[in-house]
Amino acid sequence: MKIGIVGLGFVGLSLTSVLASKGYDIIGIDIDKEKCEKIRNGISPFFEPELEKLLRNGLKKKLKIVSDFLLIKNCDFIFVTVGTPQNTNGSINLSIIKKAISKIGENLEKNKKNPIILVKSTVIPGTMKKEILPILEKKPKNIKVNEIGNPTKIANNITPTRINPKIAGSINSAIIQTLLATGLFLQPSNF
Ligand SMILES: NC(=O)c1ccc[n+]([C@@H]2O[C@H](COP(=O)([O-])OP(=O)(O)OC[C@H]3O[C@@H](n4cnc5c(N)ncnc54)[C@H](O)[C@@H]3O)[C@@H](O)[C@H]2O)c1
Repeated sequence: MKIGIVGLGFVGLSLTSVLASKGYDIIGIDIDKEKCEKIRNGISPFFEPELEKLLRNGLKKKLKIVSDFLLIKNCDFIFVTVGTPQNTNGSINLSIIKKAISKIGENLEKNKKNPIILVKSTVIPGTMKKEILPILEKKPKNIKVNEIGNPTKIANNITPTRINPKIAGSINSAIIQTLLATGLFLQPSNF
């Protein structure tokens, strides 16, 4: 199973390093080339205890860090972890995430795997349906789009040394089975 992680900031790089150090096949993508270069050399752009140790461990295994989206077409599972800053009126600025989703969509046209895309960036309820899914539905042909809920407050307990089980919900039972098979999620009844 190949996992793409788009956006290598606090959330994305932590997730990338933990999963890669555990041996998951990870492609970390960030548009910031300088940041990618540092990360490829095992240097974290921010301090987090033990993060660099995990990152370097992951780099010795299957981790790849890139600044373009070409390899996303090989992924079975994609986490979106780009920033969603606040506008001056307090609303969420979606311009960054929309660009990232659009890039993913373009490259998925070459993907035969129909990957699961899970948005971890902070968005308010309804954003997936109104803003994100329409971008994906426009781009790749024949892509099946389903919405998955991944509540931030419960799900985002990542530290460099451990990754807590995550909750995700979907009305599509095939997607739930795929999520459970990754070993990264718990069934709500087990939580
Ligand atoms: N930091 C936290 O503790 C935390 C906790 C919960 C939720 N979140 C949410 O997670 C999201 C990410 O937070 P963060 O703190 O990691 O953000 P961040 O700003 O540290 O990192 C975002 C990364 O995305 C990259 N990026 C921007 N546009 C891109 C694109 N088009 N393609 C690929 N990469 C792109 C940036 O270069 C940057 O490295 C936000 O929505 C935030 O609200 C963060």
